Parts: sequence; C-alpha cells; structure tokens
Amino acid sequence: MFLEIRGIRKSFGEGDSLVEVLKGIDLSVEKGEFCVLLGPSGSGKSTLLNIIGGIDRADEGSITIAGEKTEDMDEKRLTAYRRKHLGYIFQMYNLIPNLTVRENIEVGAYLSEHPLDVDELMETLGLTAHGKKLPNQLSGGQQQRCAIGRAIVKNPDILLCDEPTGALDYNTSKEILKLIETVNQKYGNTVVMVTHNDAIRNMADVVVKLRDGQIRKTYRNLEKIKAQDLEW
Ligand SMILES: Nc1ncnc2c1ncn2[C@@H]1O[C@H](COP(=O)(O)OP(=O)(O)O)[C@@H](O)[C@H]1O
Ligand SMILES: [Mg+2]
Repeated sequence: MFLEIRGIRKSFGEGDSLVEVLKGIDLSVEKGEFCVLLGPSGSGKSTLLNIIGGIDRADEGSITIAGEKTEDMDEKRLTAYRRKHLGYIFQMYNLIPNLTVRENIEVGAYLSEHPLDVDELMETLGLTAHGKKLPNQLSGGQQQRCAIGRAIVKNPDILLCDEPTGALDYNTSKEILKLIETVNQKYGNTVVMVTHNDAIRNMADVVVKLRDGQIRKTYRNLEKIKAQDLEW
C-alpha cells in the first residue's frame, strides 16, 4: 500500500480539558486512488489530514508514505518531505495576495524537482487568460483553481484536500471537483479529500466515514460517478 495509516491517536489539551480527537485510525490507500473522508464537523477530519500531511504530529501510531515513516523524520526532513511530496488544497485558498495567478502557481513549481509544465497546467485549469491577475481580481472559483494549480504543479505523490468546495456555490463546486478528478486521472496523484458533502463519496475509489474520532465504515466504490454527474 502506498499510504499506510496505523493506530493513529491524537488528543488536544490536558487534564480535565483533554479531548481525544482521534481514537485509533487505521487506513490504507493505494497509489493513484481517490479517497474521500466523510464525517460531521468536529469528527477529526482536518486533524487526520494534518497528521497525514506532517503539519501535525500524532500522539501514537504511524503514517507511512511510499515506505517512509514520517515519525522517523526530524523536523527538517519532514519539511523537505512535505514540500517535495505533498500538495494541499484548503477551503480558504491561501494564495499570496501580491503575486499574480501565474506567480502563485510558479511558487509551487520551485519547490519541486519534477514540476509539471506551468502553461499546460494553466490551460487545464482554465486560467490561461487570468495569468497576470492578482487573487483579489478573481472569483472564488478562480481562486480555488489557482490554489489547485499551486498544489498540483509540484506533481505531488499525495494531494490533500480539506473541504475544497466548502466556500463555493453548487456550480463552482462541481467545476472544482471535476478539476480534481481530471488531475487525479491525468497525473495519477493519490488524492485524500475531506468533505461533509455526502454526494462526493460517489466519485471516490475509497470512502471512509469518520465519527467521534473513529472510522465507522470503509468501502470501495465498484462503480464511480463522474463529478459532472453528482447531484446534491
Ligand atoms: N489545535 C487544536 N487545539 C485544541 N483542539 C483542537 C485543535 N484542533 C482541533 N481541535 C478539536 O478537535 C476536534 C476535531 O477537530 P477537526 O479535526 O478540525 O474536525 P473536523 O475537521 O472533522 O471538523 C474539535 O473538537 C476541535 O475543536
Ligand atoms: Mg475540518
């Protein structure tokens, strides 16, 4: 398995205010698979994603990506690993406000030894005509497309998406889901997407349902529905 999550536990706070957020998570994802992590607000989705991405450390358990255990890495190696192998897309786009669309995407490219072609990617994302604009001159959907570009231009092994359509309307959400689907199929990146939109599960290879810090259900879709055809 490409991504192996074993016995992950995580608590916040201490003493009386200790909250156990992840209570032993086991999950395996194969290379190139599209995994959707569903669960109500507060169920620990972002915490798990941050631990997979090395932004946060687990109290117990291990994350192995392509045979490398992240817990064995010191901070410096973990940072380098993250830069090289992981791409993030968040609900809020986190673009650099004084850089153009193209420059925001190029920032991602500098971090990689094998970046994708920026022009081709901008074309795929429908951003060619917007390359010289600043983020505040774009709609929410366009900003999210730019954020996808910045994350994916590195050609990361794993693309981690935390509620990527959470701030977008229905049509724009579908457009963004279609792009993430295209990227997954075209470049073969493994995708782990967190959402509380139940319909999105139908476009995934693997569906994981999280509640109160535990996995309640995991299953594979034998037939996927294209992002284009999802309804909610
Ligand atoms: N840095 C933190 N410090 C304290 N509590 C936190 C921290 N991060 C998350 N939590 C708590 O952990 C629980 C799960 O949060 P989160 O992983 O963000 O859930 P989700 O993404 O599923 O909504 C929540 O109760 C939240 O308040
Ligand atoms: Mg969250």
